[in-house]
Amino acid sequence: MPCGDFTTDKEATKLASDWQYKGFRVKTCGSSQRFIFNAINQICLKGDYYMCGIVGYIGDEQSAPILMEGLQKLEYRGYDSAGVAIYSGSGITVRKFKGRLAVLEEHLNNHRITGTLGVGHTRWATHGEPNDINAHPHSSSGGSIAVVHNGIIENYMKLKEWLNSLGTEFKTETDTEVIAHLVEYYYEGNLIEAVQKAIHRMEGAYAIGVICKDHPDTLVAVRKDSPLVVGIGQGENFIASDIPALLKYTRDVYFLEDGEMAVLTKDHIDILDELGMPVERNVFKVTWDLESAEKGGYEHFMLKEMHEQPKAVRDTLMPRLDDNNRIVLDELSLTPDQLQAFNKIVIIACGTAWHAGLVGKTAIEKFARIPVEVEIASEFRYRDPFVDEKTLLIAVSQSGETADTLAALREAKSKGAHIMTVTNVVGSRISREAQDVFYTWAGPEIAVASTKAYITQVVALYLLGLSMAELKGLMKASDVEAVVQELKELPNKIQQILEHQEKIQELANKQIHQQHAFYIGRGLDDYTAREGSLKLKEISYVHSEAIAAGELKHGTIALLEQGTLVVAMATQEYLYDKMLSNMKEVKARGAYVVAVTKKSLEEEVNQSADIVLSIPDTLDILTPVLSVVPLQLFAYYMAVARGADVDKPKNLAKSVTVE
Ligand code: G6P
Repeated sequence: MPCGDFTTDKEATKLASDWQYKGFRVKTCGSSQRFIFNAINQICLKGDYYMCGIVGYIGDEQSAPILMEGLQKLEYRGYDSAGVAIYSGSGITVRKFKGRLAVLEEHLNNHRITGTLGVGHTRWATHGEPNDINAHPHSSSGGSIAVVHNGIIENYMKLKEWLNSLGTEFKTETDTEVIAHLVEYYYEGNLIEAVQKAIHRMEGAYAIGVICKDHPDTLVAVRKDSPLVVGIGQGENFIASDIPALLKYTRDVYFLEDGEMAVLTKDHIDILDELGMPVERNVFKVTWDLESAEKGGYEHFMLKEMHEQPKAVRDTLMPRLDDNNRIVLDELSLTPDQLQAFNKIVIIACGTAWHAGLVGKTAIEKFARIPVEVEIASEFRYRDPFVDEKTLLIAVSQSGETADTLAALREAKSKGAHIMTVTNVVGSRISREAQDVFYTWAGPEIAVASTKAYITQVVALYLLGLSMAELKGLMKASDVEAVVQELKELPNKIQQILEHQEKIQELANKQIHQQHAFYIGRGLDDYTAREGSLKLKEISYVHSEAIAAGELKHGTIALLEQGTLVVAMATQEYLYDKMLSNMKEVKARGAYVVAVTKKSLEEEVNQSADIVLSIPDTLDILTPVLSVVPLQLFAYYMAVARGADVDKPKNLAKSVTVE
């Protein structure tokens, strides 16, 4: 197990109570140890999914290299600029640059800054373009205070106007700069008081690190709705957005609760509540190692995560089956009566999770015969949706932090819907606001492009659909069991596809020149096509479009030229003839056709395609779990062949916490 070395129930129980203490809902899943493995793995990384990363150091060592190492461990969060502020004897020196950390590192190698107190930041631009000036840290007018911030100050315009009226000049377009000026405004010799007064004026989400030239022995940090961990060292202390940034130096951490402040000196840490009163906090010992958040020998996180898919499916599925293969979802509170009362289900999600929702719609409608609508979360709440207490709303979100999904969930909640979430991150905001939580046990997903989380979301929706069908008396136990048997085969079948990845790599190497790609499919294959197309465009930057194969002739077919790449999904037996015709149509117009089909259909499909990628046979309804794998691999190898930054595609973030 990559995360943690607790192997006894006693240890697991203790950890569970630690998490409960921190306000997380702790439910056992299978056995308590299993739960804890997953929970630790995920909660410890739960902050990861906010964009921007902050680190801070106070001690006797040179802070610059420690800050840089910490920032490197936070790189996966997505960023477009980076900087550090270091107390260097006479004052605070700030260095910040647009681009990758390497730019900042090179500068620091050539222009050393000495100093043992500092803060660092990786920025994912929200307010103001990514450039050197808008990069963090931000300084007060006199440069005596420097601030790093992760989150959004929602009332920054008001604060800016007010500070402007007092004569403060702003150098950047960021919301964060107001924090530096606010602290300066309130500073009368006591940094802690100044930060306390400043945060009382701030609305929104923030984790901040503040240093001041008059207090070279103090680092102040506060968090509200953005993650922050305090690392406890020997003669040195740290702050970071996430544990991996600290693990080289310490395994002892404090988690701050919303509104709390940490005041760090090199030998001491005080935690204060919103009223400035001291808070007692237990030290949390991190028991997992960096491996679970590192690549473990794989070239990229995405490749590692694709290879973890068999395990992720197993981990999501098996704890929900009893010895007789019956589905047991005892983590859900829904009663059969409640379920009977719903007249529809609405699934809301963004990006890849939305594609999982589309597959889920087909499965739930087929199994449980309840109408399901699937909505893009960012659209949902702006159209005054038909949602009431007879609606079951399922928010699907890997991170559980996506702002649009959260906003849509709240909209549905305000209209009386029962809120369930399918999420991968224990204790995430969406999980805390939902009435029922179905955790996917995919483990931490670091690559921006989601793979293993997607597959487990699909599996989770199958389980929900099947269990609803049984509760409603629509499927006999034996019929459910037959599907469950097939579900249990999926991990091995995914493994078989992964074992043939070289063929897909070769294909990608030959298609490297493509500027455009089209993905076509019908029924469930249409949804998988959309997911495959999204994967390709987000990581390889090849323009890609997915269209229902039947729609092709209504416009898109006009774009086909000799050699145009068309990925045709043909896994659904009842749509297979129609799909073959579509493949012939595109081939007749010069397309290079890559077909994805089931082993049993391979020979026939081969006649209408240039190359066939086959997947093991399974029930049609379950094929999306398999057929997406060759598409993930193809996107991955295209991105590698084109020299793209696979795990951190440009302009994208793992979780989008702005609407
Ligand atoms: C971002 C990520 C996608 C993800 C989407 C929804 O765009 O890059 O991979 O599918 O957010 O994220 P969620 O965490 O809500 O599933």
